[in-house]
Amino acid sequence: MHEDTQEITDLILEATALARKETSAEPEPDLTRAVRWPVECTVGPGLEGAIACESKVGYVNGTKGWLIYRGYDIFDLCAHSSYEETSYLLLKGKLPLPPQLSSLKHRFTEYRHLPDVKRLLMSFPVEKMNSMAALRLGTNLMRQKQTYRDQNASGPHLEDATSTDEDSIPMETQPRGERSAVYEFRGKRHQRPKGVERGLRGAEGLASCYHIIAGVSSIAGAVARLREGHLPIEPDPNLSHAGNLIYMMSGRKPTPVEERVMDIALILHADHGMNASTFAALVVASTLSDIYFSVGAGIAALNGPLHGGANEQVLYQLEEIGSPDNVDEWFDAARRQKRKIAGFGHRVYKAYDPRARILKPLAHYLARTNDRARHLLEIAEVLEKKVATSFGDERGIFPNVDYYSGIVYGALNIPPYMFTTVFAVSRTAGWTARLREYLRKNRIFRPRGVYTGTFDREYTPMEDR
Ligand code: SDX
Repeated sequence: MHEDTQEITDLILEATALARKETSAEPEPDLTRAVRWPVECTVGPGLEGAIACESKVGYVNGTKGWLIYRGYDIFDLCAHSSYEETSYLLLKGKLPLPPQLSSLKHRFTEYRHLPDVKRLLMSFPVEKMNSMAALRLGTNLMRQKQTYRDQNASGPHLEDATSTDEDSIPMETQPRGERSAVYEFRGKRHQRPKGVERGLRGAEGLASCYHIIAGVSSIAGAVARLREGHLPIEPDPNLSHAGNLIYMMSGRKPTPVEERVMDIALILHADHGMNASTFAALVVASTLSDIYFSVGAGIAALNGPLHGGANEQVLYQLEEIGSPDNVDEWFDAARRQKRKIAGFGHRVYKAYDPRARILKPLAHYLARTNDRARHLLEIAEVLEKKVATSFGDERGIFPNVDYYSGIVYGALNIPPYMFTTVFAVSRTAGWTARLREYLRKNRIFRPRGVYTGTFDREYTPMEDR
């Protein structure tokens, strides 16, 4: 192992020892045993406290600040595993043997190649789009290309589209003289290829999970390049998933340290219980829609600044504060305005987020050779102290995963508008693992709302209103 990456592993082992000293890792009894449905639970606004389903994929102990994937502690996985191995673990429930890991890596390498999808992506104004909107568009283009699931799967294919002015195309209705070109489809109507499964079962298969986990990273790379006015880059089969993500986003091969840090970040973000984006993905999957729509729903939910979008907001927040000396004044103003401080607080963690326990030392490690990261980190640590003293431990408002991740990503030269996209690249493993698991005993999600409106109102015709 490269000596610098060994130093990073040592950092994680130190963070592990501290976490184990400061927290005790015992499961919460009422949330870690099989339940007999229907299950009693007290539900607050935002489904707080609601039990959506049972799962073996991962567990978050919010009071203790403890996170496990399939029984393995996140600290051990960051110290010793890889994102590829962790994806296998989340999907299959056990660590892979060498041939199983190499088969997964081979599939990821194969599925990262999406030249057709990237070409289609380039026909959209990606450089003007929210990066998560572009990522979600990419999953739809993957779906179009890979699943032939649509009812009109034998319909025209986007890649056959040729742009032309609308006057040359017979239209059902008189063209409205739109300035923009209208697409014409050449060639014969496509027939469903032989062997492509009809119906919905195919895309929950393991191959589809691998396909979308690998493909989303390539689309993220293409989005980053197109946003910067460059052409997408094809992945390098000799690089890892993490290494390829950096390479496809930046056009630069990562150093061993950068690759290792990105790999740890991908492991840390891969799964996190029944968070909003995972729940969104599951709700879509529970209607027997398919994996591409489900992951698209997860991407849409993760985009929000209360959720995955917070990592980007943290950076803007630190830049807004500008210097450690401004923290007090900024914080007092934020409290007066009842602003949520990005990167703090959590619905489940009422203790230090274990992922922040790893990301903070990583930020320190990278800040040793990066002035901007060092400056941001100085502000972040003063703000962390300010929040802790102002809210106090009893309020349970601690740094969450998003608080230090932005400083780490910035030190890897990832632009802020790609931070949440990187989060989505990682979380695709957790989303797909959980939707595969849920679909084994599927039941469509359909909670109830309480009606507090009125009754027995008489209809008044317009002229009498
Ligand atoms: C992620 O669920 C997951 O697992 C998510 C995630 C994952 O891996 O999938 O961990 C990733 O989304 C992390 C969270 C990233 N979001 C942020 O950093 C945004 C800032 N955080 C807050 O918006 C908030 O803490 C949430 C959204 C994360 C949690 O919201 P809750 O559980 O609905 O809590 P709340 O908003 O009801 O707050 C409870 C109290 C309130 O005070 P009162 O109105 O009761 O007096 O705590 C206060 C809040 O004002 N509070 C905060 C705060 N977080 C909570 N006050 C200021 N700043 C904050 N960040």
